[in-house]
Amino acid sequence: MEPEHGAPPASPPAPGQSENKTNSSEEESKLNELHPYVQTLNLNDLESCVNLENATFPPNEACSREKFIYRLTTCSQLCLGLFTSATPSDPHPPLRRLSSSSFSHPADSTDPSRHQVLLAHIIATKTDGTTVTDEDMTLPPKWQSEPHATPHLGHKEYGRTICLHSLAVLPEYQDRGLGKTLVLAWIQRMQSAGVADRIALITYDRLVPFYEKLGFEHLGKSKAKYAGGDWNDMVLEFENLPCQIK
Ligand SMILES: CC(C)(COP(=O)(O)OP(=O)(O)OC[C@H]1O[C@@H](n2cnc3c(N)ncnc32)[C@H](O)[C@@H]1OP(=O)(O)O)[C@@H](O)C(=O)NCCC(=O)NCCS
Repeated sequence: MEPEHGAPPASPPAPGQSENKTNSSEEESKLNELHPYVQTLNLNDLESCVNLENATFPPNEACSREKFIYRLTTCSQLCLGLFTSATPSDPHPPLRRLSSSSFSHPADSTDPSRHQVLLAHIIATKTDGTTVTDEDMTLPPKWQSEPHATPHLGHKEYGRTICLHSLAVLPEYQDRGLGKTLVLAWIQRMQSAGVADRIALITYDRLVPFYEKLGFEHLGKSKAKYAGGDWNDMVLEFENLPCQIK
């Protein structure tokens, strides 16, 4: 498969990183050969997304399987994955495990044992407001049988604000620039697609600086009560993007 967007080689783990992060020279060398690429997600990626989400978020915050089905059916064009490819004989255990999992798809390669592995994802919907609300995060209960029954819940196709609901990087590959790479590639795609005027999200106090570095503005505490509340509202207006992102 041809990469849709290349990412820089991953850097070695910083001193003091946890034991489960790679530390042998063979594994470091493998990380530098990840050749990650981004690709729009679809329903075929459901199990990879559920696996990644559950490995990354606590159960009360993780997007449910039902919500993944809804979002990947209703607005998959807003969702982006960062993949690599690997074989079941890969020297790096997470890639070996994931490439041989029942839900990984063959990579477009001359080697039939080479499979796609999802390293990170962004899951999003749209809203007609300017920040993310609990209603935007709610799964419309009858979205399949009565799609227009609860228009205030879930994805609003004609909204001009993209809601970033989940940004997740596989724990073994965090702190190597993959999250930043995926968000920047996604912002660029969403802006060029012309489908919205801004991106909004809610996040923890500790990640406010992470999103500020990516161009988001901190608007203060959110009214959202999802998973206990205490979230921060952050917004990125496309019209305020610096030249290098435009
Ligand atoms: C948050 C997350 C997406 C970041 O992805 P990542 O690949 O680990 O981050 P990157 O390596 O791309 O880091 C990019 C920058 O953000 C900083 N950063 C990363 N995680 C951070 C954190 N938890 N707190 C503060 N800064 C952080 C990095 O130091 C780096 O700074 P630099 O550009 O000055 O070097 C990832 O750690 C993750 O999946 N966490 C668990 C799920 C989660 O919290 N998602 C966000 C929900 S709103």
